[in-house]
Amino acid sequence: MSVHATKRRLAPADIQALKGERPIVSLTAYTTPIAKLLDPHVDFMLVGDSLGMVLYGLESTVGVTMDMMIAHGQAVMRGSNRACVVVDMPFGAYQESKELAFRSAARILKETGCSAVKLEGGAEMAETVAFLTSRGIPVLGHVGLMPQLINTTGGYRSLGRSEKEVEKIRRDAKAIDDAGAFAIVIEGTVEPVAREITGQVRAPTIGIGASPACDGQVLVVDDVLGVFTDFKPRFVKHFANLAPLMSEAFAAYAQEVRDRSFPGPEHTFQVKKPTA
Ligand code: KIV
Repeated sequence: MSVHATKRRLAPADIQALKGERPIVSLTAYTTPIAKLLDPHVDFMLVGDSLGMVLYGLESTVGVTMDMMIAHGQAVMRGSNRACVVVDMPFGAYQESKELAFRSAARILKETGCSAVKLEGGAEMAETVAFLTSRGIPVLGHVGLMPQLINTTGGYRSLGRSEKEVEKIRRDAKAIDDAGAFAIVIEGTVEPVAREITGQVRAPTIGIGASPACDGQVLVVDDVLGVFTDFKPRFVKHFANLAPLMSEAFAAYAQEVRDRSFPGPEHTFQVKKPTA
């Protein structure tokens, strides 16, 4: 039976089973209204820690907290009932030990009702991924460019251009795959490396800036809508251009308030005259 013929929410295992069947579709979601609009169209929604930069104006994802991830995870769960929902583990919530990672992930699953967590890291996180998956917590891996490491890597450039980088991404993806991740995000990685990894790992690969060779794609929803326009990396496509439309709407509202044409009679409550 196809996963779309069923009414239940897609599970991480359903996402994994799509490898080799058809491309996997994912976008980030942070709020209830966006989750409602996305739900019919994506296989899984990622409550990404990118919300720190996109919604809160932080300079990197490092400042994102568990409370932020849980509040937005709950909002996305309230707006969806079909797509699988994966919530990012924020920086500091899992790197220290596999036990801390389990406590953080269990809290995210219990308090949001989502069915999986994502964490960044390669070979150094493999033991943690195995610890979580063997104890009932499905994990989406994340290798290649890892934004939470910005303070040690120093930038957001694409990877895989030197033999040393290629070898590291290969080793990271294999370690996370062997550890039992149900899927692996590959971010900011040149096409031949993404293609090679996709062909070698059991888990589906989900690319963001990692070419069409991956088993699926994910993008930040505000990028897709053309709302977040501070910068546009090469891998982003604006499928709509909402920022100017929103600006126009705000300007029109301001104008109508100033010239007193809004609110009009149709927006105004009056006291009904009593009937004789
Ligand atoms: O935080 C995020 O939104 C992500 C995706 C961009 C993969 O990690």
